[in-house]
Amino acid sequence: MKRNPEANIMTRSKKLRVPDLALMKHRGERIVMLTAYDVTMARLFDRAGIDVLLVGDSLGQVILGLETTIPVNLDAIIHHTCAVARGAQRALVVADMPFLTYQISTEQAMRNAARLFQEGGAAAIKLEGGRAIAETVKKLTAAGLPVMGHVGLTPQHVHRLGGMRQQARDDDAAQELILDAVALEDAGAIAVVLEAIPDAVAKAVTSRLCIPTIGIGAGPYCDGQVLVSYDVLGLFDEFVPPFVKQYAQLGDLVLRAAKDYADDVRSGIYPHCRAARSAGAPVLVTNEMSDVAPSA
Ligand code: KIV
Repeated sequence: MKRNPEANIMTRSKKLRVPDLALMKHRGERIVMLTAYDVTMARLFDRAGIDVLLVGDSLGQVILGLETTIPVNLDAIIHHTCAVARGAQRALVVADMPFLTYQISTEQAMRNAARLFQEGGAAAIKLEGGRAIAETVKKLTAAGLPVMGHVGLTPQHVHRLGGMRQQARDDDAAQELILDAVALEDAGAIAVVLEAIPDAVAKAVTSRLCIPTIGIGAGPYCDGQVLVSYDVLGLFDEFVPPFVKQYAQLGDLVLRAAKDYADDVRSGIYPHCRAARSAGAPVLVTNEMSDVAPSA
C-alpha cells in the first residue's frame, strides 16, 4: 500500500475512532502509537498528533518500579486510564488488560474489560495472545468492546518464553505466529501489535491481514509503530531495548533541574525576597491574614 503522509495531516484535529484505524491502513497512513500513563503526558502527546495512546502494563516497570508486567493489576490500569482519557482530546485511548484478568474465563474477561471502558474511559483494550484467546476476543467484540491483539514477544508470558527475546525466528515459529494473527483478525480484533519479531515475518503478517499491524521491534513494514514513551523520551534508563530510538534525554534534563533547585534552596538563592508586591500580583487571602503578598 502506498503511503501518503499528507492525508494524515488533514485528519489531525478530528477525534480518532476505532474504525479510523482500518481506514488508515486502507489509505496507507502509518498509525503512530505511544504509551501514556498520566494526564500531562497524554495532553502533550495528543497535541503532538500521536494517534493512539496505550495505557500499557509497562507501567509496572516505568511507573511502579516492578521487574515485569506480571504483578500489574486491573485497578492500577483503570487508575492510569482515567488520567490518560482526561488528557486525550483527539487520540484513541487503548488500555492493556493485565496478566490473568482475561484468561480464566470469558465471563471474567467480559467483567474486567467492562471496567476499563466504564470506569477508565478506554475506547479499546489490548490482550496478549493469539489462538489461545481468540474465542474471548470474539465474545468481547460481539459485546461491543473493541480489542487490539498482541503477538510475538508477549511480556505477560516472559517466564514461559524464557526472557524478553525475539520470537518467530524459524519458519515453524513464524507460521504459528501468522496463524495466531489471522485467528485474532477472524475473531474481530481491530489491530494487532507485533512485538520483537523479524522484519520479514512482520511484513508477511501485515500483507496477510486486512486489519492494521502495529510494530515494536518488528521493523518498518508494519502499518504503525508503538514504543514505550519513557524509552523514547530518555526517561527510563534501567534497560533500553536495542530497537528503540531515543528522541530526547529528558532524564538528564530532570536530573539537572532537580539538582539546580536543590542547590538554590540550600544556598538561599531561591526563593527571592521581594520587598514590595508588584502591581497586579495575586494576593493570598487566608482566614488569619487578609493581605499577604507572595514572596516570589
Ligand atoms: O505495555 C506496553 O507498553 C505494551 C507495548 C510495549 C506494546 O504492551
